[in-house]
Order: sequence, then C-alpha cells, then structure tokens
Amino acid sequence: MTSGSVTDARRGNRRIRKAVFPVAGLGTRFLPATKTVPKEMLPIIDKPLIQYAVDEAIEAGCDTLVFVTNRYKHAVADYFDKAYELEQKLERAGKTEQLELVRNVLPPGVRAIFVTQAEALGLGHAVLCARPVIGDEPFAVLLPDDLIWTRGGPGALSQMADLAQAQQASVIAIQDVQRSQTGSYGIVATEDFSGREGRITAIVEKPAPEVAPSTRAVVGRYILSPRIFDLLETTPPGAGGEIQLTDAISQLLREDPVFAYRFRGTRFDCGAHIGLIEATIRYALDHEVLSDAARRVMQNALDELGVTDL
Ligand code: UTP
Repeated sequence: MTSGSVTDARRGNRRIRKAVFPVAGLGTRFLPATKTVPKEMLPIIDKPLIQYAVDEAIEAGCDTLVFVTNRYKHAVADYFDKAYELEQKLERAGKTEQLELVRNVLPPGVRAIFVTQAEALGLGHAVLCARPVIGDEPFAVLLPDDLIWTRGGPGALSQMADLAQAQQASVIAIQDVQRSQTGSYGIVATEDFSGREGRITAIVEKPAPEVAPSTRAVVGRYILSPRIFDLLETTPPGAGGEIQLTDAISQLLREDPVFAYRFRGTRFDCGAHIGLIEATIRYALDHEVLSDAARRVMQNALDELGVTDL
C-alpha cells in the first residue's frame, strides 16, 4: 500500500463497515429503572432503543457492530444472543411472524462484538475501548439514546456515510437548537455552511449561550477517522472529569477534514424523560396498526384531564 492509499483509507475512502455503540454509561436520569434495565433497553413501542440504532447502522452498510458495555449490562448481550428455547417454542407453536422478529434482531451476515469498559471514564474513553476491533479504518459511533426518526427515508447514518465517502472526511451529525440550549450540547463552528453541510473549524463542549460559536449542536452520530484513537489516547479528562470525545475531535479537525451534517429526520433525546415520551407518542401515532387506537387514548386522556389549550 502506498502512503497515499493509507491516508485515503484512514480518512474514509471506503464505505464504513463497523459501528460502535457506547452503552456503558450509568443512565442515572432513568433511575430507578436503570438499576437493572440498561437505558438502551428501554422500549419505544416494542423495540428497545438499541435495536433502532442497530437497524440504522445495518441500513448504512455496517456488518460489524461493537458494543462497549460494562459488567452490569448483561441485558444488551443477552438481547443479541440466540434465544434457543424461545425460538423452539415459537417454531412449535407455528408463530412464524414472531419467530422472524426474534431472529432478525441481528440479520445473517452481521456480527456483534462486545468489549468492556471497566470504568465509566467518559464517552471518549468508551470509544477508545473499541480500538482493537476497529483497527485502521473509518467507523461509525451511534449513541442509541439519540433516536432519529426518518419515516421510511434513508437513515441518518446512511446519509452521513454518503457524505463521508464523497468528501473522504469524518462527519458529525448536527441539528439546530435554540441559543438558550447550547449549554446542553457540543456546539460546532463551520466554514461556509451550504444547505446541509459545512467543514468544522471548532467544536466546544456545552458552551454558555453568550459564548457559543453557533447554534449547531452535535447529536449522537459520528463517522470518524481511526486517527481519533491516537488522539483519545492522550486526551486528558475534561468536563465532568470524563475523557470527552469532543476534545479529541477538536484535535482531529486540526489535521483532517471533519464535516458537520444536518441530517434529514427528527431526533428524539431518549436519554431524557420528555424525549422518551415524545418518541413514544410519535411512533405510536405513525404506527400502521396502533395509530388509531393511540390517537383515541391520547384524546381521551386530554379530555379527562380537561386539557383544552395545547
Ligand atoms: P450520557 O452522557 O447520556 O450518560 O452518555 P449516561 O450515563 O448514559 O446517562 P445519564 O446522563 O447518567 O442519565 C452518552 C453516551 O455515552 C455512553 C452512554 O452509554 C451513552 O450512550 N457512555 C458514557 C459510555 O459508554 N461510557 C461512559 O463512561 C460514559
């Protein structure tokens, strides 16, 4: 391989094949449920959050899924494991539809690999734990509690993978937020932002509204050059004493192109109570079987509570 092709491969000339799901956080906002149920296993209707993210990664072309878990999160590994007894029972009962649902949690040809983050030292550290599996190729990171609804259109990661390939660059998903909300997000500054994308010139973790360089906020989808691993190795603990992915990205954009991409779709912050409620309502109202009933029960609830001015 020439040094040029090494650079191309590192930057993203190939389409991504590997996706990392950092699911080792403590999920404190959903205690007491998250005492035993990982946040990523909370369902929207009948699928856990992690399944929505996995489906999005597979649709984008990924066939190797790396879950960064902690030693308490057996539920995530169990979910992707084969459920022999259940499958046998469903098969014997002739419940082929349900059998398919259980089997298709991971379609054939897609493999799941689990690595452990021994201590919750931050998102950046969790991503670094995936290094031995990712190696030297561009890869995706998906935070399952950011649920992105594209209503049958191409998933957010697939849209980003197109841009990463075309620009041979790292790509970070962004959405516009109110200036008053910048303190809850990583915020990017870009060169010209034309249509949906722009090259990032700076990224700041949770800036106060008066100093935020823009109102373009990072959400939980990234396509990253493997160079990020070298940078993460030397990234000191930042905000909250955690090793922040944002800090390593801030280094990365000094040497490699990194684009912000405003995806087509709606993002629900399911790491927060109201986001999980909103996503449930939206998916229910759009559900092919449940939508009428969902509409009815919502209307009843509003009537009974005397809510007139929404
Ligand atoms: P969050 O900031 O949402 O933290 O992490 P959390 O622990 O999951 O939830 P709260 O705030 O306590 O309720 C963002 C993502 O990074 C992962 C989390 O699992 C989540 O997907 N993460 C965070 C790790 O994998 N390891 C860490 O050390 C920290």
